[in-house]
Amino acid sequence: MKFHIITYGCQMNKSDSERIAGLLRELGWEEASGAETADLIILNTCSVRQSAENRVFGEVNNLVELKKTNPRLVVAITGCMPGRDKNNQMRKKLPGADLFFPIIDVIHLPEMLQALGVVLPQKNLPQDYLDFAPQYTNNFQAFIPIQTGCNNFCTYCVVPYSRGRERNRSVKSIVEEVKKLAEKGYLEITLLGQTINNYQAPDPENFSSLNPFKNHFAALLWELNQIEGIKWIHYTAADPQYMSDEVIATLILPKQVNYLHLPVQAGSNAVLAKMNRKYTRENYLEIITKIKKTRPGIALGTDIIVGFPGETAEDFTQTADLFRQADFDISYNAKYSPRSGTPAFKMADDVLLEEKERRWWVLQNLMEEIVLRKNQIFSNQEIEVLVEKCNNGLCSGHNNEMKFVQLNGDETLVGKIVKMKVDEAGMWVLRGKLVI
Ligand code: 5AD
Ligand code: SF4
Repeated sequence: MKFHIITYGCQMNKSDSERIAGLLRELGWEEASGAETADLIILNTCSVRQSAENRVFGEVNNLVELKKTNPRLVVAITGCMPGRDKNNQMRKKLPGADLFFPIIDVIHLPEMLQALGVVLPQKNLPQDYLDFAPQYTNNFQAFIPIQTGCNNFCTYCVVPYSRGRERNRSVKSIVEEVKKLAEKGYLEITLLGQTINNYQAPDPENFSSLNPFKNHFAALLWELNQIEGIKWIHYTAADPQYMSDEVIATLILPKQVNYLHLPVQAGSNAVLAKMNRKYTRENYLEIITKIKKTRPGIALGTDIIVGFPGETAEDFTQTADLFRQADFDISYNAKYSPRSGTPAFKMADDVLLEEKERRWWVLQNLMEEIVLRKNQIFSNQEIEVLVEKCNNGLCSGHNNEMKFVQLNGDETLVGKIVKMKVDEAGMWVLRGKLVI
């Protein structure tokens, strides 16, 4: 039996797909070369914006056609769409799908497949899907989910519905997974969670007695920084309200990358309050100041939504102004998309699409201007880069600031941290030569 997983959306979904693949391998299934040769197709869906959901509706209809050539094909839909489909509106639009379940229920996938007549071996599986042994994408970098779900209820966001309430993985399980990766030679880990810096260990007794931190997320980072072999530790996404002094202090632990992703969403206090974000622009800028003081030169990333209900031109000016003050290296800018079931859905979506677009471009241009300027510091510098891919003598990867890099080289460099001399510091790529 062969499976094929199609993943939409964020890194958390990519990580979930790695764990679903691990579960299916445990059950004796193999990965198909594509949808056409699979007996089970899983769509791991995203609900963050309407456009992401629309893509899934289109794709499922194409996939269901494959049942004509393979009658035993099972089409399963999981991820964020099923979790938020409280009144079966989406399910009704996907009659060809055999299974439709929220990601948290993936542990029941074996029973669901058996109910459809698929014969499976009896296995003792973990109770939480985050504990499944994943099928990592490569042998040098890995996603480590430490938390899933969210209790924050930002008014525009589907996550608390689609993924459910926040659950945190045990320190023991996380540390064991990272130690195993280190033994296999993995160099970089990306910790994942929705409000990751509010990680609450279910088993704080497993922090070592030497650990200097009280805050659980800081303490976890300290534990992971002790693991020999791992070189770079990165995490996403932090929430400004939990960026405490202890968490800020961990930015200079030896393996932390020189990058922090700290979504601000908006720069006007009125909009932040309507979004149910629990900080003000002043708090945010104060945190940024502390971060830069602790780790000068750190690259900063953010997420911003433009055109939230009621966002005036003046509110938006405040966002653009905060953008300049924070001096972000990268911002994932999104036009507000109303999501049914969220509190903001009841607010009038009163910023015209053209105006949302205009605001989006203002931020995009601002970002390009800032990043181009900031990247100049890398010109003619020797920097460390993790090489991810090589093709016909051209390699790519990223540096410690999580910026995309390109350099000359061959396959033997893949999965290694090497030195590169930057010849050209562009907006979205640092180009250079391998230093031997
Ligand atoms: N509309 C637009 N962008 C959204 N995001 C979350 N919900 C919405 C929405 N309804 C953005 C936020 C979040 C990122 C993952 O997606 O900026 O941080
Ligand atoms: Fe969504 Fe807010 Fe939770 Fe992030 S913190 S997942 S934006 S509800």
